[in-house]
Amino acid sequence: MTWFMVAVVVVVVAAGLLRWRRPAWYWLAFGVVLATVRVLVRYSSVMEACGLTVPPSRWRLALARVANRPVPESRAPRILRLRPTRTGLVLRLKLRPGQDAFDVASATDRLRHSFGMYGVNSREVRSGVVEVRMTGYDVLKQVQMPAKTDTRPMRVPVALREDGSVHYRDYRAVPHGLTLGATESGKSVYQRNLVAGLAPMDVALVGIDCKQGVELFPLARRFSALADNPDTALELLEALVSHMEEVYQLIRAEQRISVAVPDAEIAADIWDLPEDIRPVPVVVLVDEVAELALFASKEEEKRRDRIITALVRLAQLGRAAGIYLEICGQRFGSELGKGITMLRAQLTGRTAHRVNDETSANMAFGDISPDAVLAAIQIPAETRGLAIAGDSTGGWHRIRAPHTSLRQAVNTCNKYADRTPDVPALAPFRPAVAALPSARVPLSKTAPATA
Ligand SMILES: Nc1ncnc2c1ncn2[C@@H]1O[C@H](COP(=O)(O)OP(=O)(O)OP(=O)(O)O)[C@@H](O)[C@H]1O
Ligand SMILES: [Mg+2]
Repeated sequence: MTWFMVAVVVVVVAAGLLRWRRPAWYWLAFGVVLATVRVLVRYSSVMEACGLTVPPSRWRLALARVANRPVPESRAPRILRLRPTRTGLVLRLKLRPGQDAFDVASATDRLRHSFGMYGVNSREVRSGVVEVRMTGYDVLKQVQMPAKTDTRPMRVPVALREDGSVHYRDYRAVPHGLTLGATESGKSVYQRNLVAGLAPMDVALVGIDCKQGVELFPLARRFSALADNPDTALELLEALVSHMEEVYQLIRAEQRISVAVPDAEIAADIWDLPEDIRPVPVVVLVDEVAELALFASKEEEKRRDRIITALVRLAQLGRAAGIYLEICGQRFGSELGKGITMLRAQLTGRTAHRVNDETSANMAFGDISPDAVLAAIQIPAETRGLAIAGDSTGGWHRIRAPHTSLRQAVNTCNKYADRTPDVPALAPFRPAVAALPSARVPLSKTAPATA
């Protein structure tokens, strides 16, 4: 008996320790079973308490009266499936007549408290069927991406959503993206994750990093072209515009529409071209975009106008030529001058890290979803990397990218360095990897670099 008691105490202490230090392990070891039992046992009473039941139908009442049986109870949505996952439970419910998906969505907070889960979200799967995703612990506190993700060409698993699902950056569905956030909010780490995710794919990476290249130049071996100042950025963007024109010439040459060509085979973008002649897609990553739009003299103003024009042209026409923009900045509003709001309107994928004021959040979501604006302002300063990701459909999610260090990203880029394609138009901007500085140079005599 004493041994049994000791074993129970050891298990309870181990569970408590795991829950405190390693919530993900606790969930897999104990939480998933406890939560499944709790949900199944309490289901009917919780649904009733949360107002998610419907009174018995007339024919059931009539049947009970005829059979002289007690009045039937109200009925909760039927459970179609209960699926435990790595981070929580997924419940698929068949709604009763008279219920709608909004009823469930508005009761998610009540469900969360009643089932003792960390988070509850719901979405409509099809008419009459709703999926309720519950998380057992705060999955965004220490992000761990699942080992197996659904990878497809140009679709990067970049972050985790608060409901435990993977957030993908899908360039073919949403060609251009804008990432905003105050300083130290996690934009560059998000972008680094994107680079690490794109590195193994057949894609040319182009970087413009006006912070003297500190973020992107260490990853140079996987980049086909890099620019670290606005002058080079202008030349690079204009080279990209001419690359885009060449790709369109190629698509036109391949179209050859005749009566015999089936509709599905008429090429309208690079993905319709045969694989052997298909140009490699290009992802253009711009960090600190405001640097490209600021000017102090007449000369710089001319350069700025040309840069913005090239970016607008790439955003408007680039998609079919396989050119995708990924723009990061602290603010991206009309105060940066003409052309900015036009460019912003083309950037469909929006991500906002912590912002300090409503105006900045409005730059990302003002024209998409007012709820997302509020959510972006409420991100606490201490959880860096937490962001709101939305799209033009008005939907948004709370996401967080894993904390990929610069060292890990460099290792990934070096590993896939041989996949760096040569894009002829961008050849002059290919970083000379051997010449990258490796030794530390003292900034001044009075402040020598420490070893
Ligand atoms: N997803 C994350 N998980 C954990 N920590 C993070 C995450 N993202 C960022 N951080 C932390 O926040 C710090 C700042 O991140 P980052 O350099 O990406 O900010 P930023 O928004 O690019 O800032 P700036 O505008 O100054 O360039 C990182 O050094 C890292 O410690
Ligand atoms: Mg940064």
